[in-house]
Amino acid sequence: MIDDLNAKKLGLGLGLRNQHFNYILENNPKVDWFEIISENFMDSYGRPRHILHQIAEKYPVVMHGVSMSIGSIDPLDFSYLKRLKTLSKEINPVWISDHLCWTGVLTINSHDLLPIPLNEETLKHVCERIRIVQDYLERPLILENPSTYLSFEQSTLKEWEFLSHMAQETNCGLLLDVNNVYVSGFNNDFDPITYIENLPHDRIVQMHLAGHQHCGDYIIDTHDREVTNHVWELFRIAWQKTGGVATLLEWDGNIPEFDVYYAELQKAKDFMSGEVITSLDEESIITKEEAISNPINFMVPNVLSDVTK
Ligand SMILES: [Fe+2]
Repeated sequence: MIDDLNAKKLGLGLGLRNQHFNYILENNPKVDWFEIISENFMDSYGRPRHILHQIAEKYPVVMHGVSMSIGSIDPLDFSYLKRLKTLSKEINPVWISDHLCWTGVLTINSHDLLPIPLNEETLKHVCERIRIVQDYLERPLILENPSTYLSFEQSTLKEWEFLSHMAQETNCGLLLDVNNVYVSGFNNDFDPITYIENLPHDRIVQMHLAGHQHCGDYIIDTHDREVTNHVWELFRIAWQKTGGVATLLEWDGNIPEFDVYYAELQKAKDFMSGEVITSLDEESIITKEEAISNPINFMVPNVLSDVTK
């Protein structure tokens, strides 16, 4: 079934955000598809869900979640999965995705996408939970590589190795967030091109693009600005490797007018030809004090480094 999804090359999509509801309904912009944050719609039967129904009648829609916590040791939350499935029955998304991460434990939700140690033990744990979720949802699950700010001494597998085994053993699909590869690569000192080249490209059904904040010693995955040239260059490589899978631009902070968001997405077309057209200039860097004072920079690595290695 992943082959079927992989073949659904949806084109270039945007995240559906409340600020753009009216514009989309009134102007029917030429966007190939929309991605929703599942949690923004699954617990409400009000105006957002009503509008989502209207948009789903006009555009392909993909459901993207942030709360499945597939890597947690808490039991799977079947109340959550039931609401997720109910919404999927209503709007018939092309696929449902979430992240390779955990979001909490002992029922406490951190509202962050936290990394897991990458080894045989966690691989077995995650694969068992993916199989249960897929059986329950009656469809493949698509999982995204997270942006990370630390690595674990207990990790024995590279992240791309973990994702490859995970996809192989469960038949799940992969959502390759190209910006996350760049951010994690910088923060954890691995080569993002090696990462992308070694993924199983036939398992990748979607890509994400986004902007980030470079803070000098580390990069924060802020989703609040334009995509950097380094990430566009990785996208060029990933587009060629995957044969051009569905690609979505995320923008979640300082969300601009729809036409600005749309224009940033259209830049992707410049990189889909395979020609190298970027000059990899130095990124603008802010100080740690500026990063901490900016409320969007919610996950400062120094805070987490005290918790775990
Ligand atoms: Fe993403």
